Amino acid sequence: MISVNVMNTPLIASDLESEDLKNKVVEVNKMIRERTGLGNDFLGWVNWPATYDREEYIKMQASATSLQDKIEVLVIIGIGGSYLGARAAADMIKGLYPINQKVEAIYVGNTMSSTYVAQVQAYLKNKRFGICVISKSGTTVEPGLAFRLFEKQLWEQEGERAKELIVAVTDKERGALKVLADQKGYQTFTIPDDIGGRFSVLTPVGIYPLMVLGVNTDEIFFGAQKAMYELTEANLDNPAYKYAVARYLLNSKLNYKVETLVSYDLQMQYFNEWWKQLFGESEGKEGQGLLPTSMIFSTDLHSLGQWVQEGQKGLLFETILNFSRPTLDVKITKDPDNFDQLNYLDGKTLDEVNKVALEGVLQAHSQCGEIPNIVLDIDGDMSAQNFGYLVYFFELAVAMSGYLLAVNPFNQPGVEVYKKNMFKLLGKPGLES
Ligand code: PA5
Repeated sequence: MISVNVMNTPLIASDLESEDLKNKVVEVNKMIRERTGLGNDFLGWVNWPATYDREEYIKMQASATSLQDKIEVLVIIGIGGSYLGARAAADMIKGLYPINQKVEAIYVGNTMSSTYVAQVQAYLKNKRFGICVISKSGTTVEPGLAFRLFEKQLWEQEGERAKELIVAVTDKERGALKVLADQKGYQTFTIPDDIGGRFSVLTPVGIYPLMVLGVNTDEIFFGAQKAMYELTEANLDNPAYKYAVARYLLNSKLNYKVETLVSYDLQMQYFNEWWKQLFGESEGKEGQGLLPTSMIFSTDLHSLGQWVQEGQKGLLFETILNFSRPTLDVKITKDPDNFDQLNYLDGKTLDEVNKVALEGVLQAHSQCGEIPNIVLDIDGDMSAQNFGYLVYFFELAVAMSGYLLAVNPFNQPGVEVYKKNMFKLLGKPGLES
């Protein structure tokens, strides 16, 4: 379903064949499957597409269907791993302006911008809305504050009915959010103990809000299961490992420091954000890790494209997501006046032109030299199935590449530092000094 082509870098092709690396891949694969590496208590995602809790899944479907009938907007509260996956999926699968969308999504708790929050409050006035609040710890300030504000607004607008309109996704038994939800009688769904935030999109963290938004989550699981059963080989015929090893070599042997994930579809912007968190938090530790960045082409070719083509070399390489077909296409027709002189494109589709742009960019970036490309050819369109497949593909790839760097890919001690400092500065009881 995904093939990986490493281009514009002959050195990598020969390196990929080295015995040393082949042995390393076998060793790391074993660490992932047998749970013997660092952070092994967070490997629940490896078999999750086959082992997820069916009973809870059915309960979520019933709850989501009932909520859909009661609301016009779902306020999704979460930050980082507790929201990016759902947003990535909703945008990729449904697009940015879906027609016949029963429930609109609004994301809060991902920022403390007072202007943004105040505007959402005003927008929701007199609207029928519900809340899905997602936090594993229940103590993260951004979603905590957002929940406090929007819960209050909902109770003011709906009275007792608010109870039926709030759903919490959180830890099974620990944490402030679980206690609060139980005491106030809100329905809760569980974030498994052995799956960290950025690996949690296939758990209720991503699946519950997506169900309310009308995304086909069965198809997401189908794609993830397919990936789980297909991506098992402990060698570079496994595309997830080939991708992991290629980027590892570009970094460790050729000293590239920045990877940019490129997509040719605007609705992939939040998928890029999800990917950045996955790789940035998993690898960026102990002074290591590629800086994950992203661009949307051809949009960014008209801004950052200049830098890529003629700026500093030997720093950045590109990983390109190339879907074999678009979800929707648009036909280009002849214009009698032809003022724009575009009649030579008559009969083509917009996607055909977009694909030619991809070819042209690959050529341009090989002409200027020193910009390696890893092209991920994905069979099909931006479907729910492909979303599930890609999620699993990248999760497996980052486990491999993190272990190749000899770091723990499943913790994020750096994220905690600012949280602690902020608690101290705000005078949180017990943490003032
Ligand atoms: O990957 C992570 O662990 C983080 O991005 C968390 O998901 C984020 O900080 C939110 O944490 P919580 O779900 O505890 O509110």
